[in-house]
Amino acid sequence: MKFQIISITLLIYCVKCEQNLQLVWSEEFNGNEVDANVWEVEDEWQSGNCYGNFIGQLNCNVNQSKNLRLIEGCLAITAFREKQKVFDKEYTSAKIKTKMGWTYGRFEIRAALPVGKMLRPVMAMESVSPKQWATAGQIDIMSNIQTQALVSGVHFSASPPVYYGQTYGLTPETRVNQFHTYAVEWSERQMSWFFDGMRYFTFHLNHTLSPHYVRKGEPFVGKPFKLLINLGVGGLLFPNQLLDINDTNDWKDIQYRRGPDVKCRRYLPDCYVRYKYKSR
Ligand SMILES: *[C@@H]1O[C@H](CO)[C@@H](O)[C@H](O)[C@H]1NC(C)=O
Ligand SMILES: *[C@@H]1O[C@H](CO)[C@@H](O)[C@H](O)[C@H]1NC(C)=O
Ligand SMILES: *[C@@H]1O[C@H](CO)[C@@H](O)[C@H](O)[C@H]1NC(C)=O
Repeated sequence: MKFQIISITLLIYCVKCEQNLQLVWSEEFNGNEVDANVWEVEDEWQSGNCYGNFIGQLNCNVNQSKNLRLIEGCLAITAFREKQKVFDKEYTSAKIKTKMGWTYGRFEIRAALPVGKMLRPVMAMESVSPKQWATAGQIDIMSNIQTQALVSGVHFSASPPVYYGQTYGLTPETRVNQFHTYAVEWSERQMSWFFDGMRYFTFHLNHTLSPHYVRKGEPFVGKPFKLLINLGVGGLLFPNQLLDINDTNDWKDIQYRRGPDVKCRRYLPDCYVRYKYKSR
């Protein structure tokens, strides 16, 4: 089944603009546990805080096997309501980042997104040398707040940070809990975002992005960025919503089937994360 998925993907891309890209790195999640040589697992329990970041998320990102598992060649990130709070948080989830970073190329993640109240899957890239947020820049490949839309864009500058992005409306028949390919192509001149090979947003880097910077395209030019995958719970992006016990039980009510018609409530950044670069 996996082979089938990959061949379909390659076929689509051959028709599109990928001819000149060669695979540099890929993660297929085929082992028994997340590869510690490749991924850093955020552990806010160990580091002694659970800030929930700027948007007041309700989860603590921890390194627990139930939150972060490899199943049948897929990474599964699952949020849980805990019996005992972790710091002041009732929910746990996971966030992983690559240990290495890359500059320019095409970054793609094939994933099925979770369906469940107040869940927010995120795929992003952040500078390998973070400074005051968002001085070093952040690229949001995709986030979703349980609507028929993908939120993509860039953060840069500081005091105040600047966000420039787009909310891309999916057709009513698109099921984000089935596998789709989310990608960003990044060059010295621009970044473009793709859903299943279709470009929906471009951000140009051919100018000075804010008075905070001196050089064109800074901080996105010539700097390495890491890939980040996270499942958030709640927060300011879900105003006037509350979670009750039935909502969170629902997160665990998973019908998992591998294949293009997968129905699942888990966040499954399936089967691969890939980095490609234009061959010379
Ligand atoms: C996460 O937990 C696993 C299993 O307990 C451990 O082997 C690994 O080193 C931990 N990773 C981090 C980043 O703490
Ligand atoms: C940047 O590139 C875009 C697309 O080629 C163009 O429309 C725009 O005018 C350019 N901006 C600058 C400042 O050169
Ligand atoms: C959860 O579901 C059960 C069974 O449908 C129902 O009896 C109960 O009232 C629900 N709890 C809440 C908090 O809505």
